Amino acid sequence: MPSDKPQKSAAPLRVGIAGLGVVGGEVARQISHHGDTLAAVAGRDFRITVVSARSRDADRGFDMAGIDWVDNAAEIAERDDVDIVVEMIGGEEGVALELVTRALETGKHVITANKAMLAHHGTRLAGLAEANNVGLMFEAAIAGGIPAVKSLREGLAGNRVSRVSGILNGTCNYILTRMEKTGEPFDEVLADAQKLGYAEAEPSLDVDGIDAAHKLTILAAIAFGQTPQFDKVAISGIRDVSAVDFAYAKQLGFRIKLVGTAEPGRMPRMQTCLLPMSTQLAKVDGVLNAVEFDADPVGSVVLTGPGAGSGATSSAVLSDLVDLACDRIPFTFGRPVAALADGSAVENGGGPDTPFYVRLMVVDKPGVLADITSVLQIHDISVESMLQQGRAPQDTVALVLATHEVGVERLMTALTEIESLSCVMAAPVAMPILVPGQEG
Ligand SMILES: NC(=O)c1ccc[n+]([C@@H]2O[C@H](COP(=O)([O-])OP(=O)(O)OC[C@H]3O[C@@H](n4cnc5c(N)ncnc54)[C@H](OP(=O)(O)O)[C@@H]3O)[C@@H](O)[C@H]2O)c1
Repeated sequence: MPSDKPQKSAAPLRVGIAGLGVVGGEVARQISHHGDTLAAVAGRDFRITVVSARSRDADRGFDMAGIDWVDNAAEIAERDDVDIVVEMIGGEEGVALELVTRALETGKHVITANKAMLAHHGTRLAGLAEANNVGLMFEAAIAGGIPAVKSLREGLAGNRVSRVSGILNGTCNYILTRMEKTGEPFDEVLADAQKLGYAEAEPSLDVDGIDAAHKLTILAAIAFGQTPQFDKVAISGIRDVSAVDFAYAKQLGFRIKLVGTAEPGRMPRMQTCLLPMSTQLAKVDGVLNAVEFDADPVGSVVLTGPGAGSGATSSAVLSDLVDLACDRIPFTFGRPVAALADGSAVENGGGPDTPFYVRLMVVDKPGVLADITSVLQIHDISVESMLQQGRAPQDTVALVLATHEVGVERLMTALTEIESLSCVMAAPVAMPILVPGQEG
């Protein structure tokens, strides 16, 4: 039986780190500079035996004397002087996947922050970890420094989880928060976020909701005991949001956020949506992340904190290192792979009916409203409230509708017809309104 008691006399755990960038570099510096703190809680020393990155000459901020360097990161998996492989390269396929696969096959523990790899290959990798009696740890992959994985998998074990929701991408939350505060357009805020290092030069993984959907896929697997199934997630990013939407949302009592939602047996959704200002997720600003677990018997649990960056992410990796040292080795997704339900069996389709926010750019002339409402009537879509203010250039105005609950497919059919009306000057923008307790 594994013991949770630190055994200070045990030999040091030998760590191989692949990738010495934002996360891997900080993990190496923490082990090098604060090894005593780690050893005190782990009961073992940690010793970095080998590292790999692309550039051998870069100054990584820690002493590399006595540490081997390999150009091919996958070689770390084959070495006899490594107990734990820390994979901090990233990428769904390629050297990261090769390294992790081989490390598990050769009986080494793996710590990774690579949500893309886990969302796509998680079931197979979890099976390998189980077959070889090693840990596949990934606290850093989701919500950075927030202990989201441990809270759900260990802290809430025994609960029946009815919903997981979260703000899981700091880049998107930074952009939305700033657009709301300053009224700047999306492109300008994105360009500035790139200069500040909050967004990648190639931003689509973040702003199109894919990175956050990877994380939601993994959380849903743990929460509902199912295999991770990324292609089952309905994803919409933040590119369509305009500065005017924030002002209208505010008048209606909402804030705009990229929110992931997953419920048992239902298609998970990563969507830009309106949240009532009073909800906890609506109050999460800037680069922060948040996760909310609704479960029985605990109720609702919300965790907020830094979702990215060297400090937050390395903190999560260090906690995985301590768990491995203490033989706290969980099943990857909380239960044996053979006991996971088939994640591909969740329902497809547009998700549950919700109220929607719809913005139409229309010509400001008599009869426009009648044309639009007649299309909505044909599709049995009723309107809860309507806003129209000011005049824009070329006599176009924004007409904003908040609908009653409607299925997304029916709404989209109606909006396609509305877009073809001669009075409608641009593609309609529609976002679900998430009202806790109603939606779902
Ligand atoms: N940054 C965050 O806040 C954050 C948060 C959560 C999760 N993550 C995840 O953490 C992982 C690492 O992200 P990061 O931000 O640290 O990335 P990063 O700063 O770009 O670092 C990547 C590292 O991998 C090295 N590398 C790239 N290709 C390699 C190859 N073929 N062989 C060996 N080394 C290679 C790079 O070497 P050079 O340094 O020589 O270029 C660099 O050291 C990713 O899975 C990411 O999704 C990051």
